[in-house]
Amino acid sequence: MADALFPQASGAGGRPFPRHEAREKVTGRASFAADMRLAGTAYAFLLTSRIGRGAIAAFDRAEAAALPGVIDILTFEELADEVRPVPFVFEGGYVADTLRPMATADVAHWGQPIALVLAEREEIAREAAGLITVAYRDVKPPAADIDADAAETLPLESLEESVGDFAAAFADAPVRIEARYTTPPQHHNAMELLATQCRWDGDRLTVYEPSQYVNNVKHGLAQQLGIDPARIRVVSPYVGGGFGGKGFLTQRTALIAIAARRLGRPVKLVATREQGFTLSTYRAETRHDVRLAASRNGRLLAHAQEGWELTSRADVLAFGGSEMTTRLYACPNIHRRVNVVRADRSTPGFMRAPAEMPYPFALESALDELAHALNMDPVELRRVNDTEVEPFGGRPYTSRSLMPCFDAASDAFGWRDRTPEPGSMRDGDWLVGWGCAAAFYPTYAADAAARVRLSADGRVHVASATHELGQGNYTMMAQVAAERLGVPIEAVTVSLGDTDLPPAPVTGGSVGAASLAPAVMAACDAILRRLGSDGAPASDALAALAASGQGAVEEYAETRPHGVTPETIGALSRGAAFPAGGVHLPDRVQFAFGAHFVEVRVHSRTREIRVPRAVGAFAAGRIINPRMVHSQLVGGMIWGLASALHDATEIDGRNGSYMNANLADYLVPVNADIGEVEAILVPEEDRRVNAAGVKGVGELGTVGAAAAVANAVHHATGTRLRSLPLRLEHLL
Ligand code: MOS
Repeated sequence: MADALFPQASGAGGRPFPRHEAREKVTGRASFAADMRLAGTAYAFLLTSRIGRGAIAAFDRAEAAALPGVIDILTFEELADEVRPVPFVFEGGYVADTLRPMATADVAHWGQPIALVLAEREEIAREAAGLITVAYRDVKPPAADIDADAAETLPLESLEESVGDFAAAFADAPVRIEARYTTPPQHHNAMELLATQCRWDGDRLTVYEPSQYVNNVKHGLAQQLGIDPARIRVVSPYVGGGFGGKGFLTQRTALIAIAARRLGRPVKLVATREQGFTLSTYRAETRHDVRLAASRNGRLLAHAQEGWELTSRADVLAFGGSEMTTRLYACPNIHRRVNVVRADRSTPGFMRAPAEMPYPFALESALDELAHALNMDPVELRRVNDTEVEPFGGRPYTSRSLMPCFDAASDAFGWRDRTPEPGSMRDGDWLVGWGCAAAFYPTYAADAAARVRLSADGRVHVASATHELGQGNYTMMAQVAAERLGVPIEAVTVSLGDTDLPPAPVTGGSVGAASLAPAVMAACDAILRRLGSDGAPASDALAALAASGQGAVEEYAETRPHGVTPETIGALSRGAAFPAGGVHLPDRVQFAFGAHFVEVRVHSRTREIRVPRAVGAFAAGRIINPRMVHSQLVGGMIWGLASALHDATEIDGRNGSYMNANLADYLVPVNADIGEVEAILVPEEDRRVNAAGVKGVGELGTVGAAAAVANAVHHATGTRLRSLPLRLEHLL
């Protein structure tokens, strides 16, 4: 029955086991960070700045301090330099934002933590925070967004590259398009809020915090506190949504650890949703200039993409996605550039497909504009420019199923019935438009370690400090061990999300399965070898174990992807940011591919935009569990539709505040916004990409989806919208 749900996955991989931790979750036994009950807990509440730039003149905290149940109030006056500076995660450090709250009186952006109230109950801490009066001085208007006059543009010369002669080829080409595209700031809004609980037992600290990288929190926090990392344990067995915002250490953790040390009792913080908008990473707004030129038969002759990405004053952060978008289609003349724009905001950062949402939105929209200018089918334009080698450096793709994905999705969608003329597919009052776009995501992988124990009673235990974000990591790891050792999946238990376990990388960049599956396989294979059943049927392992008279056999294994040196497993143990072997390999490039087809309906009078139907097809190497992968892809597609129509943070330019920092005002799609969503898994075998043959799917499904919607809106209306989100007022 379960297999019948995923007929399209047959041949593409493993069995669609349901979620391994489903019972824990639906019975409420799964303990998320804020659920941990620690005896004697004091509760913390943050007070955050209400100006966009300036400094604190004075706090009046008498009324707050007098509230019964208030234990202490900490500000820069108490903490000053107690949190030591730690470098930015992109510069070999740990923190997602180097701005240290409560270090000085300065306020760098709206929503910066300026006081921490500690009380016997959460409600008391919150009430007391509301009773603190803050006087500010030197208040200045902030550069609130990427278009602000006072924002400072910084070209990143290291990210500027060319092949051929773009300018000459562009000038001479018979067909050209040139356009600017923009994407807005967006915030994760994961269901689980940013919680942190800290408990000291003597000089040992335990941190309960939702994390995509427990070893990063451990080692970064040790530097912030100036203590031996061996004294810190970080525990995060479940994460209620982590899309990058729980990827790297934020400054809140050190504040709570210090508060717990001062009080000599555990301290618990659950930041509000609004505070989460400035306490952790988000997707910053971007701008892109794309120029494409082609011959009359659609061959690309020149391709340039220049990106601008907003960053903070504290940190230079650039994802530099033109590096990716200019290597995906054959073209002899290419130019790419990236700039950052520094503004008075918190440091942005990882949010699902951080480079791969905005940059491909621009490229895949521009390709549709080019197809229209050429009077060519947009699928055929991709086919004409498909390539087995990247145009930079000529390295081959390990596998590339872009056109099989376009063909599978276009068949399922019924693309052949499309009439190309914009506005030609009307249905009553609704203008119907069909659009498509490519999806692609680099296949990163990182070193990882796992420990597997096989007991004589047939039970298997798998352990690694990786993370369950809801994507199915428990299931994937159990499944790989069960298959490798020849035991039923029910016999496997999995431990993860704990720095006491073998080290694993950040669960980001879609590296999870590509990194962990090889590690679990290697540990299982070591067990089989020890039992002398290497290469023999795995069921012999249990017989061999019984014959040996041992109660159990346990093996630890470290694996590292192609191109990664042995030393980096040590870096992994230290929680280094990117121990990953990436896409930049000397002999090849690796990407997963996909294709989106969507139908939009635009009301002829109100201009309301609806998306009743979306079909995606994706190829991502071996699919370990088609049910989990299908969920990831459908979720990604819906996230992409959200980017197209809903997802945007509204900024008040006067003070840099976020005006919709709550779930009532921040638009995310609800069921009524989403019609049919079909995700097809296209079989693909790639033996080179890694030992497991797995490419990541966590981010792939969202890439390109918004461009497909914008392209469909053009087909429906003849109006080209180049700024996300697409809104009805843009069509009036
Ligand atoms: Mo994702 S932005 O790599 O957590």
